[in-house]
Amino acid sequence: RKTAILISGRGSNMGALISAAMSPDYPAEIALVLSNRPDAKGLERAAEFGIPTAVVDHTDFSEDREAFERQVDAVLKDHKIEIVALAGFMRILTPFLVNAWANRMINIHPALLPSFKGLATHERALEEGVKLHGATVHFVSAEMDDGPIIIQGAVPVLDRDTPDALAARVLEVEHKIYPKALALVAGGKAKVTGARVTSGGDDA
Ligand code: GRF
Repeated sequence: RKTAILISGRGSNMGALISAAMSPDYPAEIALVLSNRPDAKGLERAAEFGIPTAVVDHTDFSEDREAFERQVDAVLKDHKIEIVALAGFMRILTPFLVNAWANRMINIHPALLPSFKGLATHERALEEGVKLHGATVHFVSAEMDDGPIIIQGAVPVLDRDTPDALAARVLEVEHKIYPKALALVAGGKAKVTGARVTSGGDDA
């Protein structure tokens, strides 16, 4: 299924998804990488892989988030996109885009949701003294960093951790679980029932 990855920055999760999608039996094709920032490093990386790229610069839409999203939606439709994967896409979405892509838009968040929604997740995990931390791939719903959970991956928090060290450990897990989650969604295996996703297996 034709998938777009939406990024704002370096695009390491994007890279993991593109690599996974190169294997012949992978159920998603990365057909577009779209950034809201023209200078996002990930755009260069996507182009090196030969993936079509697009920029919809949110600063061109002043404070009108929905107008920005209408343009994003139009570009996705132009490329006949069926699934959207947010990967470090740093824009809060309005109900317009969330509803337009309901059950077809997924996100990765660097924490074990529902703990630590929002930014600075690793700093806050260290402040709280949690002993397990990790990452979550979930369907996108109207609330930020909310929505039915597809896969989570956990890592230990170590006594001498810094936010950067913890972030690096979590990022490795992100790169493993995101390709698995996209495969479940693109393969039609992740079914949403209320707040829960079942995938008919234990492949997480
Ligand atoms: C990742 O930690 C992701 O979970 C978060 O933003 C970061 C993006 O990193 N939402 P990258 O652009 O995928 O390298």
